[in-house]
Amino acid sequence: MKTQHLSASNSKDIEQAKEILASGELVAIPTETVYGLAADASNPEAVKKIFAAKGRPANHPLIVHIGSVEQLTDWATDIPQEAYTIASAYWPGPVTLLLNKAEQATPVVTGGLDTIGIRMPAHDVFASLLSSGMAVAAPSANPYKKLSPTSAEHVMNSLGGKIAAVLEGGDCVHGLESTIIDLTQKPFRVLRTGPVTATQLAETLGEEVLAPKAHAVAVPGNVTSHYQPNTKVRLVDLSDIESANGNNIACLHYSAIEASLGFKSKLMPQDVAQYSHDLYRALDEADKWGCDEIWVERPPVSEEWFAVHDRLNRAQSKL
Ligand code: TXA
Ligand code: MG
Repeated sequence: MKTQHLSASNSKDIEQAKEILASGELVAIPTETVYGLAADASNPEAVKKIFAAKGRPANHPLIVHIGSVEQLTDWATDIPQEAYTIASAYWPGPVTLLLNKAEQATPVVTGGLDTIGIRMPAHDVFASLLSSGMAVAAPSANPYKKLSPTSAEHVMNSLGGKIAAVLEGGDCVHGLESTIIDLTQKPFRVLRTGPVTATQLAETLGEEVLAPKAHAVAVPGNVTSHYQPNTKVRLVDLSDIESANGNNIACLHYSAIEASLGFKSKLMPQDVAQYSHDLYRALDEADKWGCDEIWVERPPVSEEWFAVHDRLNRAQSKL
């Protein structure tokens, strides 16, 4: 199939993206986290196409994206008050709520689970697409286990020919996927780290919020090996980089290095938000340098860097 390249700055193109979704086809759409591969969440046949295009196992649940808080009850049931507290503090924004699934929500979206992930994305384009009341199921718009795309070009390179359209909407602000918090049992727990930390959520709720278990495989889809470029990724320390001359490696370093390195390298931002924003793009770029390995210097260890460490650990893992 030929993938149409639509522009989010053109209202006709946005209308066309809406029509494509309504007709049961897939459109890659920008969000504030990463590009999502969207299908009408109420159309099981359309949702099945997501799994086919990504090569994703059918039991890996998808996140449903809504345009208004009122839509929560279309998809979830037994919704605790805390869900609304988080929604009013962070929505539209990069927090996904894990709730009990409403009976009418199709099991194709949840991979057969009784729970469902829901979020309201903060992106003008997404907001106008959802204004008609449609909800869309959207995983990150990458082939299974590969890097999540933060630009339309990246989506085109990996899914071009497999989906009806890509809606070009510039670079994603955060660059890392949303934080997922499980609200189905107490104490609440963050299942996937993201732009909003467990400490921030705990402060918002005034109660304990547990951090994710390291590499927990609590549900299908939360696999240890993920977010991978084609080149092998290795996490290293500054001393490894300093003694690596002569190796055919690509290096993403965090520390400023004065000496000239005998291999391709890129200095990553010091600021965590900027680092997150750049990470997938940098890995994608380094992947194209044709090196034997990509070495990534471990960034600082503190809670605000947890999401970055989580994605780097999974990029390195080869299970
Ligand atoms: O920022 C994001 O969340 C992006 C944008 C497009 O919204 N979406 C995203 O979707 O990252 P995806 O499918 O790549 O990752 C969704 C994660 C998976 O790890 C999946 O296991 C988890 O959410 N998930 C979804 N529904 C779940 C459920 N019912 N129970 C447990 N985990 C769930
Ligand atoms: Mg993903």
